[in-house]
Amino acid sequence: MVVVASINGSPHKPSRTQHLLAELCAAMGESIALELRLIELSEVATDLFSAPQRCDISAKGESILRQAENAEILIVGTPVYRASYTGLLKQFFDLLDEDCMKGRIAVPVANGETPMHGLMLEHQMRPLFSSIGIVTTSTTLFATQHEISDEGALSRRLRDAAQMTALEAVQMYTMRSCMGLESFSPRSGARQDEGGRGVVSFTSKKPTSRVSP
Ligand SMILES: Cc1cc2nc3c(=O)[nH]c(=O)nc-3n(C[C@H](O)[C@H](O)[C@H](O)COP(=O)(O)O)c2cc1C
Repeated sequence: MVVVASINGSPHKPSRTQHLLAELCAAMGESIALELRLIELSEVATDLFSAPQRCDISAKGESILRQAENAEILIVGTPVYRASYTGLLKQFFDLLDEDCMKGRIAVPVANGETPMHGLMLEHQMRPLFSSIGIVTTSTTLFATQHEISDEGALSRRLRDAAQMTALEAVQMYTMRSCMGLESFSPRSGARQDEGGRGVVSFTSKKPTSRVSP
């Protein structure tokens, strides 16, 4: 069972980013058994950001950070805000223990009003991850907000793109020992989880079912 954290940096709910993340998680769940942790920063911001430094945040905030630190794959989504990722997402990553994150695999995901800001994934999100040793998939998933309906329906292009991105993440995970990433497995190094408070966890049924709560 692969532990996957899906992190949504949008401050809003409902969120188009959340629909993108759900599609990607479902696509991944079709080819590998997942234990999925959904971290919606809009829902847990008051727990996570109750203090500027990690040593002072609430016990619930600490527990949520550990859910991400103990995940093997991170699917990280954000709306584009001011040509970058959101401040919520930045603060979340500032709080993570960088020694826990080395060698993890991340899938960068974003949506925005204009396709001109799609390259934010390349010149801002990738460096955010690599600064703490997280390895990213070469494929990313970017949507304009017009490709996602208010009800959460995705365009055909997006569904196909989510499949390809999910496949690459799974392949990277299965090849992690060849890539020298296995020694960084969270099971061998990370802080202990303290349960799922503030986070929704569920598992997929490999190989056929889509992931659903
Ligand atoms: C404060 C703010 C700043 C934004 N800045 C940008 C931007 O610079 N570029 C862009 O393409 N979209 C921008 N947007 C549009 C959002 O990225 C877009 O509405 C997105 O679909 C919201 O995703 P969500 O539903 O997951 O929150 C901005 C929206 C807000 C509220």
